[in-house]
Amino acid sequence: MAADQEPSASSAGTFQQAADQLKSAFESRLEALSSQGASPDDGLKALEEIRIQFTGKKSELSTLMASLKDLPKSEKGQAGKTLNLLKRDLELGIKEFKQKLEESKKAAELAREWIDVTLDDTYLASNTRSHRGLGSLHPTTRIQYEIEDVFTSLGFDILDGPHIETEFYNFEALNIHENHPARDMQDTFYLKDGNLLRTHTSTIQVRGMMNNKPPFKVIGPGKVFRCEKIDASHESTFHQLEGMMVDKDIKVAHLIYFMKTLLSRIFDRDDLEVRLRPGYFPFVEPGFELDIRCLICEGKGCSVCKQVGWLELLPCGMSHPNVLRAGNIDPDEYSGFAFGLGLDRLVMMRFQIDDIRHLHSADLRFLQQFP
Ligand code: DAH
Repeated sequence: MAADQEPSASSAGTFQQAADQLKSAFESRLEALSSQGASPDDGLKALEEIRIQFTGKKSELSTLMASLKDLPKSEKGQAGKTLNLLKRDLELGIKEFKQKLEESKKAAELAREWIDVTLDDTYLASNTRSHRGLGSLHPTTRIQYEIEDVFTSLGFDILDGPHIETEFYNFEALNIHENHPARDMQDTFYLKDGNLLRTHTSTIQVRGMMNNKPPFKVIGPGKVFRCEKIDASHESTFHQLEGMMVDKDIKVAHLIYFMKTLLSRIFDRDDLEVRLRPGYFPFVEPGFELDIRCLICEGKGCSVCKQVGWLELLPCGMSHPNVLRAGNIDPDEYSGFAFGLGLDRLVMMRFQIDDIRHLHSADLRFLQQFP
């Protein structure tokens, strides 16, 4: 019996036949739908039409159900059972098909929104990536990350600080008072509201002291700014990495130990020699310039070390009591050391770059040498 023929309700056998035909018509509709390869959304729409056609109020099934009441009592039971089984099969078929469509809809969504959470910038920096034009790490960033790794392995925390600072953090808290001549050496860009672009990462010392209780060991890398006359070795924007350790009984020996460890890791040498010369910085007392024996001539004298045999590398010293006090630390109980590493200088030494202006030139001919 075709789906649109009037059913004969004369016997249970006829009901069975009608049910079989409806079921096979239903199954071939589902098969046709699945072989169409429609999108899950279109598939769901078509499935809803099939559901209405086969199980809705105006469906043949409903008509058959309604005709049950006209059957003789002896046949009603069997015919009713047949129709109920058919109804169950149709509903189950719809439900399973719907589930399949919803699953493939979800899978398509997940595939579309897939994010590789393991992707990081070191991946971007790999050769294969940069050759596809996706960029690579700037040499300064690379050196910064390397140094961060050394210090974190030594138990230091990495801190950050704002580029726009108050005079307090940039000068006063570092024992550089308003009329102190040291301010002249660090002329900077002032904002209308009286704030300024930080001239050094030493500001991070102050923030480190205020936000940590001793003992602590911190480093703070970042950009710094000065109103400089720009030439091959001076830029108005450059990079430093500040470090500070505060604990009971910190001595110059601790400072030398950490600086030597850092430098031998950076230059990959365990026979590195360092020396301290007096150096003046208002926030350390005593203050030093730390030199390393020239790596090029091993101290004999060459053009790189200007025939001195030593290379000036980083200023450092023991934290001045006024600085500790400004950071809410009692200098009678605690002492500390601090240092400020010029990152651009290190980069220039490492990669033999002869002009600091290359670093911020954004010139691809320069940058592509660091894939
Ligand atoms: N902030 C200084 C500058 O930019 C560098 C410096 C010197 C940092 C001595 C220090 C230090 O932590 O102890 O010139």
